[in-house]
Amino acid sequence: MRRELEMQEMDWTALANPSEEMQRSWLLQSTTLTMKTYVQKKKTYIWTLAFIGVLVVIAFTMMTIRALTHLDHYQQQPPETYSIALHTGLKFFNSQRSGRLPEENNVTWRGDSCIQDGKYPGSSYPHLSGGYYDGGNAIKSNFKMSFAMTMLSWSVIEYHSNSADTIHDMVFQVGHEGTERYCWIRPEDIDYQRHADICFSECPDLAAEMAAALASASIVFSKNVVYSQKLIHGARILYKYAESSMNTDTSSSWDELLWGGVWLYYATGDVSFLDRVTTLALADPSGVFSRDSGVFSWNTKLAGAQLLLTRLRLFLSPGYPSEEVLRKFYNQIGNVMCSYLPSFNKFNRTKGGLIQLNHGDPQPLQYAANAAFLAALYSDYLDASDTPGWSCGPNFYLTYVLRDFSRSQIDYILGKNPQNMSYVVGFGERYPKRVHHRGASIPKNRKESCKGGWKWRESSKENPNVIEGAMVAGPDGHDGFHDVRTNSNYTEPTLTGNAGLIAALVALSGQKDNLDKNGIFSAIPPLFPVAPPPPAPWTP
Ligand SMILES: *[C@@H]1O[C@H](CO)[C@@H](O)[C@H](O)[C@H]1NC(C)=O
Ligand SMILES: *[C@@H]1O[C@H](CO)[C@@H](O)[C@H](O)[C@H]1NC(C)=O
Ligand SMILES: *[C@@H]1O[C@H](CO)[C@@H](O)[C@H](O)[C@H]1NC(C)=O
Ligand SMILES: *[C@@H]1O[C@H](CO)[C@@H](O)[C@H](O)[C@H]1NC(C)=O
Repeated sequence: MRRELEMQEMDWTALANPSEEMQRSWLLQSTTLTMKTYVQKKKTYIWTLAFIGVLVVIAFTMMTIRALTHLDHYQQQPPETYSIALHTGLKFFNSQRSGRLPEENNVTWRGDSCIQDGKYPGSSYPHLSGGYYDGGNAIKSNFKMSFAMTMLSWSVIEYHSNSADTIHDMVFQVGHEGTERYCWIRPEDIDYQRHADICFSECPDLAAEMAAALASASIVFSKNVVYSQKLIHGARILYKYAESSMNTDTSSSWDELLWGGVWLYYATGDVSFLDRVTTLALADPSGVFSRDSGVFSWNTKLAGAQLLLTRLRLFLSPGYPSEEVLRKFYNQIGNVMCSYLPSFNKFNRTKGGLIQLNHGDPQPLQYAANAAFLAALYSDYLDASDTPGWSCGPNFYLTYVLRDFSRSQIDYILGKNPQNMSYVVGFGERYPKRVHHRGASIPKNRKESCKGGWKWRESSKENPNVIEGAMVAGPDGHDGFHDVRTNSNYTEPTLTGNAGLIAALVALSGQKDNLDKNGIFSAIPPLFPVAPPPPAPWTP
């Protein structure tokens, strides 16, 4: 796949402004013409000049019209749409809280739950209460929770002015992996001992993912120096653990190591992290070539890390020795963006326009939302570095193409789809009413036994509690959707899905120049590009 998309190294300046380039060649031809004519007759010369002038004007007008029609091509939503959806989407996180809830949690049907997590006799981990439930059951997955938190932090860091107060009171808490397939009761009523999956040295990916979450959070909370340092301290320890337990045979954790390393570099400015991620990258040939390159999700972080490192190259150009890998990533992220365009046919689309990044499998929305975030963000990076667009093979695309892609996917999620259905609960006129969610499907104060609760799951009635802001798993590969509680493939929301949606909405709801260009770099000392070492002296 990558070979097809492989980009030629191009001279940017030549392509950067096609209209200027075209105009120059017009004038060049005209000059030759003019010289000949002048020899013939002065009067003709004036007419020729006028003629050329008219031609230039016509050419310009045509180009402008083309640009405008292209701009009009995608019907835009009013910008408030995204702000409203953003406020709705954030409410979901309040519904997912575990442990003791704050005074004003604002979800009337939720209360304290699972405060006993980890507190069983002989437990080595008595402090597992808190955190967030991942989806409709009561599992707390550190891996997914960490990714969700990193995404939220990322969007806050990039668009500071937009949403700095949106996640100020989120807790970064260690939860645990558990399995809860049998019981269908409100999390508040869980009184059985919950199983905690502990991993010892086999989870470098989890450690690196958590390092990314803590490191990115330390940037969000940088004004609170003590807290921020504490987060960085934790991130460093986790990352060290991840590196030391990384088995050279298992390349599956490699993207998390890259992802965690980049965030640690931004959080600390410690150049050893940049060295590590730019060397690691060289060392690993996998991932990049797979059919999933460009698919950014809780399970594959490569594209996110590449985009973050491309940011570094666009704005700070650190030069040698990282330049080689940074340029490679820059090219690859360009290819990722190309792969999102319909003309590249790398990923299928439904008739309604939803990109099938997970190849027609269930839960397509979270992948589309993540891609929408990356595309909008990359377009903002390009705009902020005065780069008008990027190339896909011989074609050059302007940045609005990325924004259009991003909007098209988010608009689909918000209701512009063949079902006329908003997939975010509480947003728009029609949205899923039978969300696969234990807490939302059982009336408050209705204590059930594990199996007794099944009647609520099987019921065809609407949920008694509206789980506001939840983005459900989404439609099937043909834009079809069944609002049934028993099928989590359609109706289950997840933390990671909502986090990607929030990130994309933050990127789309602001003004074009809302990107905080420098905030993310504040820990990085001034960089002076180092010249490559001189070639070794020639010895006969
Ligand atoms: C609950 O709502 C109040 C008032 O709107 C707000 O100040 C507070 O931040 C909200 N709490 C949460 C956890 O969202
Ligand atoms: C696209 O859809 C076709 C037909 O359903 C399928 O065979 C193919 O594998 C899909 N391609 C991708 C990249 O998912
Ligand atoms: C969605 O809305 C369009 C236009 O209003 C209508 O033609 C179509 O039948 C609707 N589809 C569904 C599934 O309700
Ligand atoms: C959900 O999707 C998975 C994977 O495609 C499939 O195996 C499973 O049967 C689906 N579940 C239901 C209830 O349709």
